[in-house]
Amino acid sequence: MKRTLIILKPDAVERGLVGEIIARFERRGLTLAAGELRVIPAETAQQHYAEHAERPFFGELVDFITRSPSFVAVIEGPDDVWKLVRAMMGTTNPADSAPGTIRGDFGTDLAENLIHGSDGPEAAAREIALFFPGLV
Ligand code: RTP
Ligand code: MG
Repeated sequence: MKRTLIILKPDAVERGLVGEIIARFERRGLTLAAGELRVIPAETAQQHYAEHAERPFFGELVDFITRSPSFVAVIEGPDDVWKLVRAMMGTTNPADSAPGTIRGDFGTDLAENLIHGSDGPEAAAREIALFFPGLV
C-alpha cells in the first residue's frame, strides 16, 4: 500500500466539511493511516509550501493555512494513491473544478480551496515526514 498526505484546510474545518470529505475517500476504498485536528505552526506551513516561497501569494497562503485548525491526515491506498486523491480534489482553481470533485462541489475561491494533497510520491514522503514524523 502507498500513502499520501492531505490537509483539510481551515475553511473546510470551519464549514463543517471534514466528515463529508473523509467519507468520500473512505467510500472510494481508501483508508486513514493517521489524522489529527491541529493549528499548523507558521514555520511548518512555510516548510510545507517552500516551493511557493517566492510567489506573491506566499504570505497569504501561510496566513490562511495557519488561521485556525486544519485536519491533517495520511491516506492509504494502492499505487499512485496521491494521483487518485488529486483527481478527487479537483483542479487548484475551483472555477475550473469539475462537479463531483471536492473543490468542484464545495468551493468557489482560489485561496480557500478546502484541501491540499501531495502532488507526487516524493512530495508525499516529504510531507508525511513533516507532519507525522513518528508514523511507521
Ligand atoms: P495544494 O498544494 O494546496 O494542494 O494546491 P495545489 O497543488 O492544487 O496548488 P499549488 O499550485 O500547489 O498552490 C498552492 C495553493 O496556493 C494557492 N494559490 N494561489 N493567487 C494565485 O495565483 C494562487 N495560486 C495558487 C492555492 O490556494 C493553492 O491551493
Ligand atoms: Mg500543491
